[in-house]
Amino acid sequence: MNKNLNLSQKESTLNLKMKFKKTIEVKNIFNKISYKYDFLNNLLSFGLHKLWKRKLVNLLEPLSGEDWADLCCGTGDLAFLISERVCPSGSITGIDSAKDILNIAKKKSELKKNKFIKWEIKDVLEINGYSKNFDGICMSYGLRNLNNVEEGIKKVFNLLKDKGRAGVLDFNHSTKNSLSNIFQKLYLRLIVVPISQLFNLSPEYEYIEKSIRNFPKKNELIKIAKEVGFKKAEYSTIFWGQMGILILVK
Ligand SMILES: C[S@@+](CC[C@H](N)C(=O)[O-])C[C@H]1O[C@@H](n2cnc3c(N)ncnc32)[C@H](O)[C@@H]1O
Repeated sequence: MNKNLNLSQKESTLNLKMKFKKTIEVKNIFNKISYKYDFLNNLLSFGLHKLWKRKLVNLLEPLSGEDWADLCCGTGDLAFLISERVCPSGSITGIDSAKDILNIAKKKSELKKNKFIKWEIKDVLEINGYSKNFDGICMSYGLRNLNNVEEGIKKVFNLLKDKGRAGVLDFNHSTKNSLSNIFQKLYLRLIVVPISQLFNLSPEYEYIEKSIRNFPKKNELIKIAKEVGFKKAEYSTIFWGQMGILILVK
């Protein structure tokens, strides 16, 4: 490192390097698991993730003719649900930074003969040019994976039209040693990791527990959203506190 840099410059260079490392790591994880992503999602959640996603979409009430984005769309589950509601007169754009998982989303839309969804490969934090473009934004199991949750929420705010709404579904970061926290750890350690091990994907699924630990809790998420400028920020838990849904209105 350059000797002439002062301490804060060194810190920010280090932060940048760490952010870059996390971005690459996350992208590699999702490219690697992409071919088994839907299969393992169904298996590990006993199919329940589909219900939780449907619940998120029901809460958001996308309307025909509106423009929506599914951020960190993965294989596009939310994008498909939203397209049923807003298209053909509206639009839905699925955005993800991992090429392989997005290719699966594209293949799924070919199979479903869904020509409405626009797929874009992009880092959510680096989206430019869609400012105030969307009536609604949804994100499932994506915010937790971003380099910076606050920047992610700011990005959602910038992308939304005035009065636009957004919904985020993710693991709930519950209070340490609470019943739901203990259940979550047991579920991840005794079910998720061993099953993913059968497919040589355990390091990738071990990452979930660490990412939940670093993810803001309910009140922190609400505080960030209010500071960013959202008029309404409400958080509710589902499935006995295992998952959380954050609803935001600009
Ligand atoms: C756990 S998956 C969730 C996929 C999908 N939304 C679902 O619920 O099934 C997280 C997704 O976020 C994507 N992702 C992570 N960081 C991202 C970023 N900075 N920009 C765009 N996509 C990102 C990953 O590539 C991955 O597809």
